[in-house]
Amino acid sequence: MTTLTWNDLPGPATRWLGLPALLSLRRDYLAGIARQQTHGDLVRQYILGERIVDLFDPELVRALMVEHADALRRWERGPEVFADLMGQSVLVTEGATWQRQRRMLMQAFTPKRVAGYAALMTEAAMAGLERVVPGEVALDRLYSHLTMDVISRTLFSLPIGEDTGAAADAVQVLSETALAEMFWPATLPDWLPLPGKAAKRRAQRLLHGLLGERIREHRPAAGAHPDLLSMLKALRDEATGEPLSAREIYDQCMVSFQAGHETSATALLWWSALLAAHPEAQARARAEVDGLLAGRPPTADDAAALPFLSATLKEALRLYPPVAALMTRRLTREITLGGVRLPARTLLRVTPWLLQRDPRWWPQPLAFRPERFLPGSPEIPRGAYIPFGLGPRVCLGQHFAQLEMTLIAALLLQRFTLAGDGTELPRPRMGVTLRPAGGLRLRLAARRERPGRPPQR
Ligand code: HEM
Repeated sequence: MTTLTWNDLPGPATRWLGLPALLSLRRDYLAGIARQQTHGDLVRQYILGERIVDLFDPELVRALMVEHADALRRWERGPEVFADLMGQSVLVTEGATWQRQRRMLMQAFTPKRVAGYAALMTEAAMAGLERVVPGEVALDRLYSHLTMDVISRTLFSLPIGEDTGAAADAVQVLSETALAEMFWPATLPDWLPLPGKAAKRRAQRLLHGLLGERIREHRPAAGAHPDLLSMLKALRDEATGEPLSAREIYDQCMVSFQAGHETSATALLWWSALLAAHPEAQARARAEVDGLLAGRPPTADDAAALPFLSATLKEALRLYPPVAALMTRRLTREITLGGVRLPARTLLRVTPWLLQRDPRWWPQPLAFRPERFLPGSPEIPRGAYIPFGLGPRVCLGQHFAQLEMTLIAALLLQRFTLAGDGTELPRPRMGVTLRPAGGLRLRLAARRERPGRPPQR
């Protein structure tokens, strides 16, 4: 049997060494990858000396990310760009260093450990929602504040404080510059007087200041549920007994702060937009919350007992995965995938945005149907739903994010109803996360009848 090679794969003709293809991806990345899909499930593209393959079949995605995981590294530009801010954290490292860090950090992110943060998460969410003035609310600001406060309290046992606007702006600046830099072969030094560099330097200074101060002043929290930083300090490598270095702890805090709030905030934005557009699903989720909680704040156990609410969050993550495209991977050795021999150095792209909207695995793919995720619904093919990635590099904070989002969503539905202006959902805009272009404003009306509270006049 002859084995096919990269050259045999379907794909667009290469023009000008792939420069027009690069520019078109820069202009609209997801539209560019969608055009690739029109050629098949395993599609080639050539850009400036790089042989690239897109995967659109869930089984192939799984085979790559799980079975061939040891033949993959992240494409160098990803870590180069992220290392700027996140140093040598688990998001960036490879090989033995990554294995050691991941092994150690997983201990701090197990479902059981994460459940220990539920009270801190609820505290943060209640404090933030308490300050909402009903009416038209800019939800970007609200969720950035809430999720930053969650990560600050869980990391350092400290509320984030009042001024989260500047920190949220800094994260946005860095997210946008990171994406832009990804399309250049190298990052020009930040001290150069180029457009965007001063804003980037200011944003980095602000975040380093914010985190540095908290880490320096951190004292181990007493009690049954230590904060994440206490836990990071106490971690020991099973094999060597060594702790994480001070630098690794710092970088890890930075990555948890960055990766851990913008993604969850973005997911909550899309979830809110979808519930505002689907009042019947909103009413059903609220009835479930009221039925279980009767007005009291939710706990980690409650979060596991709200199947419809969880299904609305999962469906929002399907339609609008905050990480719409996984980091491109590079092959470290030859592999055979779907009967095609791919040489070492090939680049591979996996795009949750397209896998999760493919009509072959999702009937009525553009419809918001949380029922897909309820027990008893048809099984979802493995690899077709990957908002947290898959394989050994699956999101470290997956359980954290799921718990945090469920608690915030339940607390919000207890207090408010969400309504849009009846127009279409906002257009997504690709940064490091996929955010609603132009932000999201919705009407939050305080509920008159809240279980567990005397009726409001
Ligand atoms: C809705 C919220 C979140 C989503 C959708 C999300 C999504 C993802 C995805 C898709 C990846 C894999 C990227 C790839 O393979 O290229 C990832 C990795 C990662 N995430 Fe998340 N994430 C979320 C929340 C969080 C939170 C709350 C934290 C930490 C507190 C976190 C920390 C990380 C880390 C450290 C990695 C890198 C893991 C590694 O490379 O070993 N994430 N995330």
